[in-house]
Amino acid sequence: MRAVTVVPGVPNSLRLLDDWPEPPPEEGPILVEALAVGVCGTDQEIISGGYGEAPPGQERLVLGHESLGRVLEDPTGTLQPGDLVAGVVRNPDPVPCANCAVDQWDMCRNGRYTEHGIKGLPGFARDRWRLSPKFAVRLDPALGSVGMLLEPASVVAKAWDHIERIGRRAEWEPKTVLVTGAGPIGLLAALLASQRGLSVHVLDRAPGGAKPDLVRALGATYHACAVHELDLSPDVVIECTGAPTVVLEAMGKAGPSGIVCLTGVSSGGRRITFDAGALNRELVLENNVVFGSVNAGRRHWDLAAEALARADQSWLTSLITRRVPVAAYREAYTPTGHDIKVVLDFAQ
Ligand code: BGC
Repeated sequence: MRAVTVVPGVPNSLRLLDDWPEPPPEEGPILVEALAVGVCGTDQEIISGGYGEAPPGQERLVLGHESLGRVLEDPTGTLQPGDLVAGVVRNPDPVPCANCAVDQWDMCRNGRYTEHGIKGLPGFARDRWRLSPKFAVRLDPALGSVGMLLEPASVVAKAWDHIERIGRRAEWEPKTVLVTGAGPIGLLAALLASQRGLSVHVLDRAPGGAKPDLVRALGATYHACAVHELDLSPDVVIECTGAPTVVLEAMGKAGPSGIVCLTGVSSGGRRITFDAGALNRELVLENNVVFGSVNAGRRHWDLAAEALARADQSWLTSLITRRVPVAAYREAYTPTGHDIKVVLDFAQ
């Protein structure tokens, strides 16, 4: 069968192979046919050789962690043939640590977790894959063309869950949220904010194109300026660019008792100078919290599936700016500069 693969650590080793072995039974009892995978910045980093790890004893890693498939068979009866399904990205560490032991693998404490298509587990960019029920998330049948957005949605469902838990340290009635970055994560964070009835502001450097319209369609306000130029005192800031200057400005932007959630994985290596004392003073005097958030536990996947089912399906569809058939896979991994979400289509 077909599989999109790389040799981790080796730049330009991206290949579509058509003799990849069928998924072995040890992967799980649920057999799934791939419909699509989404492409994200992490895939680009793996392709450039800067990230990623093949399964033990193997040279190649199958890419793809934003999955959408259709169940072919499930002898456990958890899912029915024909059901739409997405696979959870992270598997708990083998020890396991206290968090992995209770299915909170997103909070793994010893770093020995594995991730499909990223770290030590084959990804979903292959014609068929297998899953255990615990890692299989059923999707509403209406999400047939956009279900690969569940993975990025799970990441923001976790971010919101943790923001709300932190908020409960005191009386907290958030009204205004600022999201920096209008890529898939930023737009989905804004969607979940609008579903919470908050006043939503999204900042991005793109002055035009699809992003302003997608933001306004949520009833939110779009800003194409620097964070410090905004006349806002948000209760929540969700940083989704990972760009050093934006991250720093976002950290100082929350209002009193405000919470700043950082979700962007920066590549590092770029140095900027900043006034650490002034930032510290602001955080302390305003009881602000700045925290990082990555990945998603099982509960967040279920919350994300509900959020996507409640969303406007045509809005979700507009997030997907290109659908590339597997045969032209290289195009999917070549950024154009205008993309929001690119999808590799296994069904075409
Ligand atoms: C994925 C996460 C993953 C993280 C780090 C992100 O692109 O969405 O699921 O935990 O990369 O590997």
